This record gives sequence, C-alpha cells and structure tokens, in this order.
Amino acid sequence: MRGLHAPPFSGATGRTELTITRPAPTRGALCPAGTESRLNDPRGLLYTARMKHLLLVYSSQSGHTEALAQAVAAGAAESADDVELRCLRADAAGLEDLLWANGLLIGTPENFGYLSGLVKDFLDRTYYPAQSKVTGLPWAMFVSADNDGSGAVRALERIALGYGWSKVAEPVISHGVPDAEALRQCRELGQAMAAGLGCGIF
Ligand SMILES: Cc1cc2nc3c(=O)[nH]c(=O)nc-3n(C[C@H](O)[C@H](O)[C@H](O)COP(=O)(O)O)c2cc1C
Repeated sequence: MRGLHAPPFSGATGRTELTITRPAPTRGALCPAGTESRLNDPRGLLYTARMKHLLLVYSSQSGHTEALAQAVAAGAAESADDVELRCLRADAAGLEDLLWANGLLIGTPENFGYLSGLVKDFLDRTYYPAQSKVTGLPWAMFVSADNDGSGAVRALERIALGYGWSKVAEPVISHGVPDAEALRQCRELGQAMAAGLGCGIF
C-alpha cells in the first residue's frame, strides 16, 4: 500500500492512523466546489485542497470484522488523495475522533441480531455530546455475521438517523469467514468512500 505512514491494525492500543501521502494539489489544481478554500487569486480559479479525515471504527472478536476492516482500509489507501485515515477499535474511539471525521465507516459483527456491544458503546458514548455537530456526516457500514447481518444493518441505520448522518453507500454484509468476494466489496467500499471524500462528492 503506497503512502502509508504506519501498517494498519498494528497497535495494542487499538489506535492506528494512516496518512495517504500523495502530494496535495498546489496552486493551479482545480478541485470541485465546496471542498477547498479559495486562494487569493484574481482569476478565482485556483484552489488549495483541505485534507479530509476518514474515520474507520470497528470491533471484532474472532478477527472476521477486522479482516473486512483491513480490506476497507487498503481500498481507502489505494484511491484517495489527501485523505487521512484513522482506524480505531471501537473501544479506543471516542467523541474527539468522531468530531475529527469528515467521513465515517463502521464495521461490526452481528451479535444477537444487533450491533456488537463495543460498537454500541461507542455510539452510546458519543451520541449526546456529538448531537448537532455531526449532522450530514457521510457514512457507510460493513458487517460480519454467520448467516444474517440484517439486524445490525437495521440497528445502525436507525441510529444514524438520530445522529443525522448521511448514508453514502449500501452496507457490505459478509457471512462466515470473509471470502474473496466480501474482501473485494470492502475494498471497493473503502475506495469509494475515500475517493468521494477526496474529491468532494460527499
Ligand atoms: C455473542 C454472539 C452473538 C452472535 N449473534 C449472531 C447473530 O445474531 N446473527 C448472525 O448471523 N451471527 C451471529 N453471531 C456470529 C458472528 O456475527 C460471526 O461469527 C462474526 O463473523 C464474528 O465476527 P468477529 O470475528 O469480527 O467478531 C454471533 C456471535 C456471537 C459471539
């Protein structure tokens, strides 16, 4: 993976930050409206790109969701210019991370037809303090389950409405040990999210 400062998912702390280090557009690079700050140039066509922040929060007991998260992170690293990716286990993530994010990816196993306890706990801890500060945040999710996954999707989609987040991709649901197809879909999810953030589609 080109341009990563640190290998993903390495730390016992659960905090891993990746910065995609392709050079930022300089004077003369034109970015889509709304994603940049205008330079003081009489032609009004020159822009500088603002680094976008992508937060990936996940939990995993046996490693399935973590494998999906790694594929998502790899996809994000491949496709994005000027996107900083922060990958955190849910128990290491908090309000500051959520407020930092311009885009959010959540990965959860389905447990008892719902989100994992750790992902739910992240949401419980951030919901009130983040309220009205994360409205419109682009988000998407991926789920690892044995044979279902729909309960986790329903739960998070409902919670996301409460936060006022804006869903930008359909959930990826993987059954059992993640296979090549599930990993491909997760990679594409990461690519799409990072690319959308990087060029200002979201
Ligand atoms: C406590 C518990 C509850 C579970 N409940 C469900 C469930 O409701 N539906 C389902 O399809 N799988 C269920 N599973 C299976 C997990 O979702 C599945 O093994 C998943 O791949 C685990 O991901 P992880 O290794 O990232 O934790 C459950 C597993 C555990 C441990």
